[in-house]
Amino acid sequence: MDERQVGEMIVGIHSFKGGSGKTFVALNLGYLLSMERRVCVLELDLRAPALYSFFRGERYINELLGGRGNAEEYLLRVRKNLSVLMASPALKDIKTCLRREDVEGVRMLGRLQEVVSELRSLDFELILIDNSPGLSYMSVNSMILSDLLLFVARPERQEVEGLRNLFDVSKNIEKPKYVVLNRSTGDAALPYEVAARIPCSCDVTMDYPFFVERHENHEVSRALKKLAEFVSRR
Ligand SMILES: Nc1ncnc2c1ncn2[C@@H]1O[C@H](COP(=O)(O)OP(=O)(O)OP(=O)(O)O)[C@@H](O)[C@H]1O
Ligand SMILES: [Mg+2]
Repeated sequence: MDERQVGEMIVGIHSFKGGSGKTFVALNLGYLLSMERRVCVLELDLRAPALYSFFRGERYINELLGGRGNAEEYLLRVRKNLSVLMASPALKDIKTCLRREDVEGVRMLGRLQEVVSELRSLDFELILIDNSPGLSYMSVNSMILSDLLLFVARPERQEVEGLRNLFDVSKNIEKPKYVVLNRSTGDAALPYEVAARIPCSCDVTMDYPFFVERHENHEVSRALKKLAEFVSRR
């Protein structure tokens, strides 16, 4: 039985190629959606984590996935209505996760499922999952647990072709799937449904977590707001 309450949703943010803007989209969507809902950004990029560079925390999802403790102890509140569950940047933790993922891919789905239901029981209305690029047990596990999938891609040939792999691998996962075209420079047609086109701008930097907070009326922020409204309507 689906235990989901009205208003609860898990959004998986994926890409085939690295560097397409998943973390940028996850953080800024998290910021915008936290104006009206209780949001958690869950970092499942265990191979190359990024959130530790923005927020000071000491506990990481790696340990939680390893079976220690419960989700509440690992959450870091970063602003009103917005918490993060970060991945560890320590090399030993990255190695453990890679090993575990290869050997225990299916068991990890169960553990991830437990973590997500704990977060749901903590009253988060939206969970945004920032995944690692490409295909891995973890990213496919994350697709299985999500209610809505956003595939982020730059409008370049390689990335657009990579989208086909994401759609192919997820074809039996019956969830709504949309492309977020990031660093977009035009309005070239794509053979997929596009949830948002976020323009490319040299003003974007990952030196701070929330671009939309500092650049409220920027065209990039306006596109992110449209994406947040799109997600809110789902
Ligand atoms: N709309 C944009 N315009 C210009 N630069 C952007 C835009 N969106 C993201 N970037 C830049 O692209 C780079 C990659 O972004 P980000 O780290 O979010 O990608 P990612 O998909 O999470 O990467 P990874 O696959 O390594 O996790 C960052 O330096 C970011 O500042
Ligand atoms: Mg990232």
